[in-house]
Amino acid sequence: MPDFTPRVFSGVQPSGGLTLGNYLGAIVKFVDWQERGTHETVYCMVDLHAITVPQDPETLRRNTRELCAGFLAAGIDPERSILVNQSQVPEHAQLGWVFNCVARMGWMERMTQWKDKAGANAERASLGLYAYPALMAADILVYHATHVPVGDDQKQHIELCRDIAAKFNHDYGVEFFPLAEPVIEGVATRIMSLRDGTKKMSKSDPVDASRINLTDDADAISRKFRKAKTDPDPLPGEVAGLEGRPDVRNLVNIHAALAGTTPDAVLAEKAGSQLGHFKADLADLAVSKLAPVSSEMARLMDDPAEIDRILARGAQRAREITVPILERTYDIIGMVR
Ligand code: TYM
Repeated sequence: MPDFTPRVFSGVQPSGGLTLGNYLGAIVKFVDWQERGTHETVYCMVDLHAITVPQDPETLRRNTRELCAGFLAAGIDPERSILVNQSQVPEHAQLGWVFNCVARMGWMERMTQWKDKAGANAERASLGLYAYPALMAADILVYHATHVPVGDDQKQHIELCRDIAAKFNHDYGVEFFPLAEPVIEGVATRIMSLRDGTKKMSKSDPVDASRINLTDDADAISRKFRKAKTDPDPLPGEVAGLEGRPDVRNLVNIHAALAGTTPDAVLAEKAGSQLGHFKADLADLAVSKLAPVSSEMARLMDDPAEIDRILARGAQRAREITVPILERTYDIIGMVR
């Protein structure tokens, strides 16, 4: 393989408000990569992915801007990172089509997210929902990205992206697309529902109390943590004691991720605490970390024109990378230009 420029790419769907899962599992990591300065960093609002299920146009526009505000408020600097909206860079969809012709039906059928989302009603799901992972591979590879920080639920999609890159390279006898590495690290790779510690925290869960939204105010955050499902036993002194206690494990993980420490360190400090006390502490910690982010988001949302300017500039910078990569792809596959 040739040497690829070290480059990070990741995306978030503007399909509803941001949750604590998105924030700790993805966006905090995005900021870390930017601060490390070892890689170019590209972060994307993937609006073309959002329309694989029905979206109200005005709500989608608002959610896209709000997601951009979330990135900025969390610490993404649009000068040091490229902050981009997917539909403003047409090469994503163009390479997505090429990958629809590389990926095999059998590969797509194995995707657990497809099975979960389409469920028993696959006949009525959109073709886009089925093809979604091929577009996701294009998002990554149209930048020749080498590293993809994501939460645990995206692992299978990144593996598919590697399969697509490898098949393309093999079929055309080139070493053109990198095999991008998933980066799934730390305690926050799978934040669970506050109502069911065996289910992922999700923006699409119909029960609002199951998740913390980045737009929740301090009262809502406190209430949701205080009412989080737990069991009656006090906190153990070490992680092994969380076996069989998924709800408590989740709260300990959230505490560790918010405080930037480890579950073992949290338990060493809080061993023997009653859950009521621990939840109150956790609520205070969450409010102190999240309130500045949500108030900055609200401030940024007062000036949507400025957000649109940032996105326009991001698209221009993104296309300096994506246009030549798509042109070379077209040359490899035999398109007349
Ligand atoms: P999306 O929008 O569902 O989620 C965005 C990111 O947040 C992570 N995440 C979580 N992490 C920990 N705990 C949770 N409960 C939790 N919920 C969500 C996700 O793992 C993800 O990293 N298909 C992607 C978007 C996408 C993408 C890409 C990502 C499109 N193209 C290219 C990476 C590279 C998705 O639907 O993420």
